[in-house]
Amino acid sequence: MKRPTPSWLSSAIFYELYPQSFLDTNGDGIGDLPGVIQKLDYIKSLGCNAVWLNPCFVSPMGDAGYDVADFYHVDPRYGTDADLVALFAAAHARGMKVCLDLVAGHTSTAHPWFQASAKAKRNKYSDWYIWTSSAWERPAPPLPAPAIPGTPATIVQAMASAPLQLVRGYGERDGGYVANYFYFQPALNYGFAHPDPDRPWQLPVSHPGPQAVRREMKKIIRHFLDLGCDGFRVDMAFSLVKGDTDFRETMLLWREMRAFFDRHYPECALISEWSDPEKAITAGFHMDFLIHLGHPGYTSLFRAEPHRNRSPAADRTAASYFDRRGTGDIRPFLDHYLAQLASTRGLGHISVPTGNHDIIRLAHGRTRDEQKVAMAFFYTLPGIPYLYNGDEIGMDYARGLVSVEGAYTRTGSRTPMQWDSSANAGFSTAPKEKLYLPVTSKQKPDTVAGQDGDPASLLNFLRALAALRQSTPALQADGDFTPVYAKAKTYPFAYLRSLDGDTLLVALNPSGKSIAVTLDLPAFTAAQPLLPTAVTIARTRNRVRLKMPAVSSGLFRLVHVAAPTP
Ligand code: NOJ
Ligand code: CA
Repeated sequence: MKRPTPSWLSSAIFYELYPQSFLDTNGDGIGDLPGVIQKLDYIKSLGCNAVWLNPCFVSPMGDAGYDVADFYHVDPRYGTDADLVALFAAAHARGMKVCLDLVAGHTSTAHPWFQASAKAKRNKYSDWYIWTSSAWERPAPPLPAPAIPGTPATIVQAMASAPLQLVRGYGERDGGYVANYFYFQPALNYGFAHPDPDRPWQLPVSHPGPQAVRREMKKIIRHFLDLGCDGFRVDMAFSLVKGDTDFRETMLLWREMRAFFDRHYPECALISEWSDPEKAITAGFHMDFLIHLGHPGYTSLFRAEPHRNRSPAADRTAASYFDRRGTGDIRPFLDHYLAQLASTRGLGHISVPTGNHDIIRLAHGRTRDEQKVAMAFFYTLPGIPYLYNGDEIGMDYARGLVSVEGAYTRTGSRTPMQWDSSANAGFSTAPKEKLYLPVTSKQKPDTVAGQDGDPASLLNFLRALAALRQSTPALQADGDFTPVYAKAKTYPFAYLRSLDGDTLLVALNPSGKSIAVTLDLPAFTAAQPLLPTAVTIARTRNRVRLKMPAVSSGLFRLVHVAAPTP
């Protein structure tokens, strides 16, 4: 039986919005919810009909709000709980959706649950976090590595099989606690997949403590969905049950959550940070991001070079496919993507986002034209596009900033939105030193106002792409995806998107060389360009020649495609 799915998801285009650097309306230097409401019409003008809002809950902001101290209330720096409800209503009035960020795996050490859990005297919260039974216990030895012979473990797999991060000496309780990410983010206790009998503090998933945490998460979800929220992006969704190297128990947990959504909130979306769509969607998520944490995804396409992704584990010889040097390879991504697509078809969606708050911005090291080719790719893939705020004007990654709120190398992707040429690029009226992060130091920064009236701007290119996607079901989440030119270490990359007799050809040449190739396409009478392009398609009797200038993209409707002979 087909599971219910939110009806709006297949035509969704999301805007990832980082609230603290979006728009400050009260002059304190920090973006806020009234600022988001004020810009909803702008977001809608981009063709985005859904927003993923990064965490806006009460937090000491050690990890920019991913260290929650109260899940039920908006942090005062963003406004009030009423502002959040007003945002839901304002979005709905415009036919838009708002999804929140659910940090299900951990809290801040400042959370009252953790404070109670750290007490020596047993109480309701003693088992809500994972504490060893003695302060002297050393970190557990590593678990066996996941066995996929010949395949390097993904970051997610490595995290699931790494030794637990134990923080010792925190308070009066005799024990160390397990941290999920930074030391001040203690893991909530969802239990252990295979509790070690020699370590009785490793509780089974079915234990009342972990079960109470699960119930509380549902309560939080219910609270916001009842207020009008349209779904959640779940932070580190893969991380909940510990010692779960094959993710079996974690997947069962999300299945239970999905059943809860299906029963009570069938129009609300569950979105995962997992980077393994097959697992995440089988676990019940409606959508998963294919990003830097998983198998060939975002990194292999955009940040493969070691100097670009800064990962010590990077392959020293790797090259991004979307790079004008033209030495990349589409196959590692594509082979993985096609397999994932096949196994999730009809069950959920895959998203390759334009970027996010954790990775170096797309624009960094790329010209405007290169960004346009990348955008043509993001907006014509099946699944759901996600535009990270600022990428629509090609905001650059700012190098050399001192870390703010635990951002470290991520700081440069979180600088304030550049609206116009007024003070602080229109982000805030606060004095410079009070801004959340410095606005760009570029002499002539890209701004929304500067690109708004320019038909050749990236901003307007994205508007055109979004309008095309919104008016063309074949381009949306469920249309078929068929590569027609995708050779190893070769350019261009071309594919068909089709649905109900409508067929579109997408051709991408991210390389700095002009190319001409022969394509094997189904018979058609005309190829209509849907966006202005210098790419040409010429037909001789039974051959199709595709000519592409350096760094170019073309999007065509193939008219009168012959039905395949049965
Ligand atoms: C993933 C989030 O995207 C990132 O910003 C955060 O620091 C970690 N999860 C920890 O919550
Ligand atoms: Ca503010």
